[in-house]
Amino acid sequence: MNSPVIADDYRDYLPLYDEYDYDITEFEGAPPEELQGTLYRNGPGKLDAGGQQLGHLFDGDGMISKFAIADGKVHFRNRFVRTKHYHKSLTSTGGAPYRALGTLRPGGILTNAMQFPANVANTGVVMHAGKLLALWEGGPPTEIDPDTLGTLGVHRFDGALKWLGAFSAHPKWDTVTGDMYNFGLAMVPNPGLVCYRVNRAGVLTKVGRVPLPRPMFNHDFGLTPKHMVFVTAPLVFPIGKMMAAGLGMRNYIEAIDYEAARGTMISLLPRYGGRPRILHTDPLMHLHLANTYEDGSDTVVELVNYHASWEQLNGQLSGAQDGLAEAGMPYGGTLLRLRITKTDRVIHEHLSDLQGDFPTFNLGYTSRRNRYTYLAVGADGHHYPNAIAKVDNISGAQRLHRLPVYHFAHEAIFTPRPGASAEDDGWLLVATQDRPNSLAHLRILDAANIEADPVYVGTLRHHLPLTFHGNFTPRA
Ligand SMILES: [Fe+2]
Repeated sequence: MNSPVIADDYRDYLPLYDEYDYDITEFEGAPPEELQGTLYRNGPGKLDAGGQQLGHLFDGDGMISKFAIADGKVHFRNRFVRTKHYHKSLTSTGGAPYRALGTLRPGGILTNAMQFPANVANTGVVMHAGKLLALWEGGPPTEIDPDTLGTLGVHRFDGALKWLGAFSAHPKWDTVTGDMYNFGLAMVPNPGLVCYRVNRAGVLTKVGRVPLPRPMFNHDFGLTPKHMVFVTAPLVFPIGKMMAAGLGMRNYIEAIDYEAARGTMISLLPRYGGRPRILHTDPLMHLHLANTYEDGSDTVVELVNYHASWEQLNGQLSGAQDGLAEAGMPYGGTLLRLRITKTDRVIHEHLSDLQGDFPTFNLGYTSRRNRYTYLAVGADGHHYPNAIAKVDNISGAQRLHRLPVYHFAHEAIFTPRPGASAEDDGWLLVATQDRPNSLAHLRILDAANIEADPVYVGTLRHHLPLTFHGNFTPRA
């Protein structure tokens, strides 16, 4: 079945300039009484700056959405992160005030040379050590007031995250110690992945560094009881293109090449000191990892493998679902398990045929074998995520929660029922978009019975531009 042709008016990235603060009063069903807490999400709230249309989905100013759930009610609030880019965009009349990953400012080399991309704080949002942090993988976090969503400022962990220190958008938590692990991509003086641990008090220390053979792009990582695990696709910034980007002759996204002959590099950095173990496997194209864990002497990594070129993947990131439909391309990729043996073999195990992305799972199972992975999928041949899938990694069973026709799913976040013992005893919280009517919803699904009607559907008063990532915290 082919997707309908979606007119520009239905695009999933329409800006939301207004900032709201209201109780959701139009709804069906009710949030479960035991479900108390807050879902925060982050994504580019607008793709223009100073009157200039931005060149890439990664470039839009971060906007935090907050769904506070308590006593059977849901309260919505959204606010843009007040970065320097956001502030200057409001007053600039001459286009984007700074260059971004996929955008050059007007003015050519004179205004773009030797400029870093602006930190737009738009990729993830996490709560750790009592602080709500908006994340962007090229720079430091921005601290946000968890209640008002006001911007408190750039957060460098009391100076422990140095100048040029990046803090990526996919941290992982040790479920025993509560420590948060993360990395930052470093380009100078030598390319590498600088790895950090942030303890429960919010103190950041460096775990180690994974050297990269060239400047490369790495978006996510996994955590096992022993290692930080990186699966780095051969997405390389060739020297010539990087110099051209640095000089402002092209944007940074265009400076990426997919060098398949390099294969995919897997790095296992010991969490408590030591040199990384490096090995290689066939070239993959992926952004997101699901869970990682140890199985006997094997290290297991699950990820979403795109059977596509970098150009096609980048096209999806640029919001080209309509282009995918025209090209006959599916949405997303499929779940793949990499089993790394102690003899350095890497065995590929295909887990599912469903086409999707934004893999999530019960975070209580981080670093140990989990049974269920949830994905936003393009079901029935659709070229945008029109369903939430629950993949059983043991039996291979796949269950779908299909959205109403032409509705679009953001990432689904699992939150456990208090006192739950079964892995899937809890709820999936997912923002969705009614594309033809440009109207967003919050859906709460029973994760154990995902095919059933939602437990709750709350209707927002407006649309919600695509959000990348979010987190749930019991703090209501
Ligand atoms: Fe991501």
